[in-house]
Amino acid sequence: MTQTTDKDRVLIFDTTLRDGEQSPGATMTHAEKLEIAGLLDEMGVDIIEAGFPIASEGDFKAVSEIAANARNSVICGLARANMGDIDRCWEAVRSARQPRIHTFIGTSPLHRAIPNLTQDEMADRIHETVTHARNLCDNVQWSPMDATRTEWDYLKRVVEIAIKAGASTINIPDTVGYTAPEESADLIRKLIADVPGADEVVFATHCHNDLGMATANSLAAVAGGARQIECTINGLGERAGNTALEEVVMALKVRHDIMPWHTGVDTARIMNISRRVATVSGFPVQFNKAIVGKNAFAHESGIHQDGMLKNPENFEIMRPEDVGLTESNLVMGKHSGRAALRDKLEQLGFEVGDNQLKDLFVRFKELADRKKEVFDDDIIALMRVGEDPENDHLQIVSMKVVCGTGGPAEATVEMEIDGKDASATAHGDGPVDAAFKAIRDLFPNAAHLQLYQVHAVTEGTDAQATVSVRLEEDGMISTGQSANTDTVVASAKAYVNALNRLIMRREKSAPGSDIREISYKDVS
Ligand code: KIV
Ligand code: ZN
Repeated sequence: MTQTTDKDRVLIFDTTLRDGEQSPGATMTHAEKLEIAGLLDEMGVDIIEAGFPIASEGDFKAVSEIAANARNSVICGLARANMGDIDRCWEAVRSARQPRIHTFIGTSPLHRAIPNLTQDEMADRIHETVTHARNLCDNVQWSPMDATRTEWDYLKRVVEIAIKAGASTINIPDTVGYTAPEESADLIRKLIADVPGADEVVFATHCHNDLGMATANSLAAVAGGARQIECTINGLGERAGNTALEEVVMALKVRHDIMPWHTGVDTARIMNISRRVATVSGFPVQFNKAIVGKNAFAHESGIHQDGMLKNPENFEIMRPEDVGLTESNLVMGKHSGRAALRDKLEQLGFEVGDNQLKDLFVRFKELADRKKEVFDDDIIALMRVGEDPENDHLQIVSMKVVCGTGGPAEATVEMEIDGKDASATAHGDGPVDAAFKAIRDLFPNAAHLQLYQVHAVTEGTDAQATVSVRLEEDGMISTGQSANTDTVVASAKAYVNALNRLIMRREKSAPGSDIREISYKDVS
């Protein structure tokens, strides 16, 4: 619902699938995008920005399918300020029950210089493109990109033009995370007070986190009169990311006494979607991240534990169950059946299809054979494994490693590459280095390893290791993950997962698909 008479209702606009996915390395598959959109729709997000339809055939298809499937949320697509983008966007969202076109142009002096437009020329462009969007769709959102570095008089002028041309939501982006809370509130307050017609539209805030103030800036904008917050799950997004959905939603819930606004989000679904987004984007959540970090509700120190036992409110301002967090219990062993696994997954908030359950069950059995006790966190890690056997070009079939104090490590890796088997042996400085070299021999590539990270999922030497690998090739970034009780196997699989994602990214990166290339060529 985007038309509300409730003046204290803050609309939540989620852009995980657009601004989040745009983050280098966070590419999601078609099926993953559909799954995340389904979870957002179910959790009460008002508007889902499903993608940037002109960017690629894949983006177009994903937005179209999300639009056709959505039950409650408004489905929005992004379009630059040209007719081609807007037409393509409309084509993608038009099948939604509630479609929206979001069109934008950079209005600050720096951004105006890119297309080399004068203030007057840009003002005309805004009028033409918003009018065109409004002729197609009766729900149009307009954004002056880099609004917080746009001259005040010019910002006022272009916001008025967009409102007159028919935009019903005016989004004020802090594109480079430059503003601060007081300024953020003032800007919205002044726009509402000074721009004719401002009381007829919804003002939105869209903050980036470059100075770590995105959540504070978004909440301040609400205090200034904004009634839509644009955000992403886990704060996913370029550079330091976007405003985190879970932070603004929980802040409004927990501090309702001083921030008397509310959202329609079912907060008990937060943990589940946070885990899924971490998995499919390949961006793990930092341990001490507010609300969804592994340590957000952990109380290690003796004093804290004692206080917690006496009364949880001593150290907790919200209950773990408010965000859908359940205790990590000892779950099952090797005798547990498929129904028990499905049950457990449901308790943890995962809905899996029959094929996925079949695949998970095989991996659960393998794990239970190797590991005496299987905990909730182990199951969550299994869900994180980034393999997609149906679409992956590369798969590890088997591997053998020899290592120790006696000399260089040796790894023999057997892989299936586009359906064909191949095997290679390589030596390296330790088993992980040797395994990566063998994989590179089998699939030669110039991708540069930017990050290699290992974490233990639970306590004990038989704990699973989760491994993240980030690769860079010609400016394209991809991230892979895997989990296994054998750290070297997890490492090799995470590397292969990152390579599979890089291949997917190569396929997607057609010229002209970058949102940052501001193209005006087909404006008539
Ligand atoms: O940060 C930004 O300015 C954006 C716009 C496209 C709204 O993401
Ligand atoms: Zn943005």
